[in-house]
Amino acid sequence: MRTNYCGLINEQYLDQTVTVKGWVHRRRDHGGVIFIDLRDREGLVQVVIDPDTPEAFAKADSSRNEYVLSITGRVRSRPDGTKNDKMISGGIEILAKEIDVLNAAATPPFQIDDENISENVRLANRVIDLRRPAMQQNLRLRYQVTMAVRRYLDGQGFIDIETPMLTRSTPEGARDYLVPSRVFPGEFFALPQSPQLFKQLLMVAGFDRYYQIVKCFRDEDLRADRQPEFTQIDLETSFLTEDEIMDITEGMAKSIFKESLGVDLGTFPRMTWTDAMFHYGSDKPDLRVSLKFTELTDLMKTEAFKVFRGAADMPNGRVVALRIPNGAKLTRKEIDSYTEFVGIYGAKGLAYIKVNDVTNISNGEGSGLQSPIVKFLSNEALQAIIDKTEAQNGDLIFFGADKAKVVNEAMGALRIKIGREHGADNGYFTDEWRPLWVIDFPMFEYDEDENRWSAMHHPFTSPKPGHEDLMERDPEHCLARAYDMVLNGWEIGGGSIRIHRADVQEKVFAALKITPEEQQNKFGFLLNNLKFGAPPHGGLAFGLDRLVTLMAGAESIRDVIAFPKTQRSQDLLVDAPNHVDEKQLRELGLRLRQKTQTEEPKA
Ligand code: AMO
Ligand code: AMP
Repeated sequence: MRTNYCGLINEQYLDQTVTVKGWVHRRRDHGGVIFIDLRDREGLVQVVIDPDTPEAFAKADSSRNEYVLSITGRVRSRPDGTKNDKMISGGIEILAKEIDVLNAAATPPFQIDDENISENVRLANRVIDLRRPAMQQNLRLRYQVTMAVRRYLDGQGFIDIETPMLTRSTPEGARDYLVPSRVFPGEFFALPQSPQLFKQLLMVAGFDRYYQIVKCFRDEDLRADRQPEFTQIDLETSFLTEDEIMDITEGMAKSIFKESLGVDLGTFPRMTWTDAMFHYGSDKPDLRVSLKFTELTDLMKTEAFKVFRGAADMPNGRVVALRIPNGAKLTRKEIDSYTEFVGIYGAKGLAYIKVNDVTNISNGEGSGLQSPIVKFLSNEALQAIIDKTEAQNGDLIFFGADKAKVVNEAMGALRIKIGREHGADNGYFTDEWRPLWVIDFPMFEYDEDENRWSAMHHPFTSPKPGHEDLMERDPEHCLARAYDMVLNGWEIGGGSIRIHRADVQEKVFAALKITPEEQQNKFGFLLNNLKFGAPPHGGLAFGLDRLVTLMAGAESIRDVIAFPKTQRSQDLLVDAPNHVDEKQLRELGLRLRQKTQTEEPKA
C-alpha cells in the first residue's frame, strides 16, 4: 500500500520506511548510482537506487520517463549542498529497497517540464499535458473555487437545481448548437446558451433562490477568453433588488478570493456604463491602469484641422486625448507600432503631441510642443488640450478621432496596452486586483448590420423604473436594471432584474421588432407562465472559466479547462467534430448538402 504522496514527504519522516507510487519524472545515472525523481499529484520526491540492491537497481536501470513505479525505501537526509528548499521534499531522499514496475510507458510526445510546446501539440496530447504541475494546479484551483461557491451559496439558502441540456433556443446573442431529433425528423433541440429562461421559471415556481454550476453552449467566434462550451456559476433570486443581488454576489466573489487565494478584494466600486465609456472607452475597464480619456469633441467643433473637426461634427463622432505620463520618451518606432495597433480597431491614424515645455505653448516655430499636428491647431485649442489633460513636461498625448465606437475601441485598447507595457515604471499601473461593478447599462444597442435595436444584455432584462416609455420613444436613452462584475479588464459576470410582467415583456419584444406570433412561438412558455403570479426576480451568472483563469494567472481560459476546444472549436484529443455514418444520418432523417463533405479541410 502507498504510505505517502511523493511530494509531501519531508524531514518528519526521516528514517521511516515509506512506499510511494508515481511516474518517473526524470532518471539520472550518476556512475553507479541511479537517481529517479518520482512524481505524483502532490509533486516530486528524489529516490536513490544503489547497486547494493541489485534487483531494485536493475528495475531502475530499465525504467524510462513516465514509467509507473511503486517504490519502498527508507527516508534519509539529503547531503548538504544538494537540498532544495523550494520543494516540501527538498531536504530528503528515499533510499530504495524495492521497486515494482507497475507499467511501462511509450516515449511521451514531449517532456513534461518543457515550457515551449505549441498549444495544438498540447491539446492533441492533452493527457500528457495535464500531467504538468501547472495544469494540475489550475484544475485544483478550479475545484477550490467551485467548492467555495457551493459553501457560500448553500450558506445563503440557495439550492442547486439542474436544467435541461436538450432544449430550445435561448437568445443570448450567439448561434445555437443544434441536436437533431430522431423521433421528429427535421426538428431540432438547441443546447442552452444559458439556463436563463429555466431559472426564471424556477422563480415563478417558488424556489426563491436557485444556483447551478452549469455548462453553456455558444457557437461564436472564439478569443482567448471564450470557449464554445463554457461553465457558468448561474444564480437567480426572487424579491431582491439589484443592490441586494450585487451584495450577495460580491460577497461570493470575495469569499472565493479569500478562501482560494487568501486575498481580500475590499468593497467593489460602482461605475455607470456612461462613465465607463466616457473615461475608458470600455464597459469592462481595467482599473489597474489609471490612465483616462480627456474629452475634446466640443473643443474640436470650432477647429479647422479636418481629422479632428470631421469626427467632432459627425453625429456619432468623438475626439479624445490620452495623456501618457513620461511618454515623450517613446521612440518613433514605438509610436509607429502603436499606430499600427490602433489600426486593428479601425482607427485611421494616431495623432500625438510630445510635451517638452508647458510654458511655451504655440503652433509656431520653437514651440514647447513637438508634433506633426500642432501647426493645424489654434493656440487656444493647444492651451485647452494641455489644461484639460493636465499634461506635464515630458508627457506625450495621443489623440483618437472617429466614430465614437472606433475611438472607444481603439483608444481603450491602446490605454490598456500602454498601461501594461509602461505603466508599472511610470506610476500608472498597479499589479493588484481591481474589481468593480458596471451599472446602468442601456437597454438596447443599435445593430448596424441588421439596422435595428437589439437587447444589450438579453430581452428579459427589466427597464429602469420610469424608463418604460422610452422603449418606444427613445430607445437609445432607455436604461436597464443590468449590472456586470468586472475584474482587471475582464467581464467575469453579468445579470439583471428581469421583467416579471407579461405585458412589459411583450412591450420589450415589440421594441425589438419581435412580432406577436413570433413571441408566442418562441417564448410562449415564458409569457404564459409570467401570467401565473410571477414574483419580481433577478440574478446573475459568473463565467467560471474566466474567473479561474484570472485567479490562476493563466494566459487563456483553455488552461483552466481539462479538455477544451481550439480556437476553431475542435477537440484535438478525441478529434471532434467528425463525420458520422450514413446510417446515423438516415435515422435522423438528415441528408448532407453535397458541398459539406468536401468543404475546406480541418486545421
Ligand atoms: P452573459 O451572456 O453575460 O449572461 O454570460 C455570463 C458570463 O459568462 C461568461 N461567458 C463566457 N465565458 C467563456 N466563454 C464564453 N463563450 C462566454 N460567454 C459568456 C462571462 C459572462 O459575464 N443568462 C445571463 C446571465 C443573467 O442574466 O443572469 C448570461 O448568460 O464571464
Ligand atoms: P493626415 O492628415 O492623415 O496626415 O493625419 C495627420 C495626423 O493625424 C497623423 O499623425 C495621423 O496619424 C493622425 N490621424 C489621422 N487620422 C486620425 C484619426 N482618425 N484619429 C487620430 N489621429 C489621426
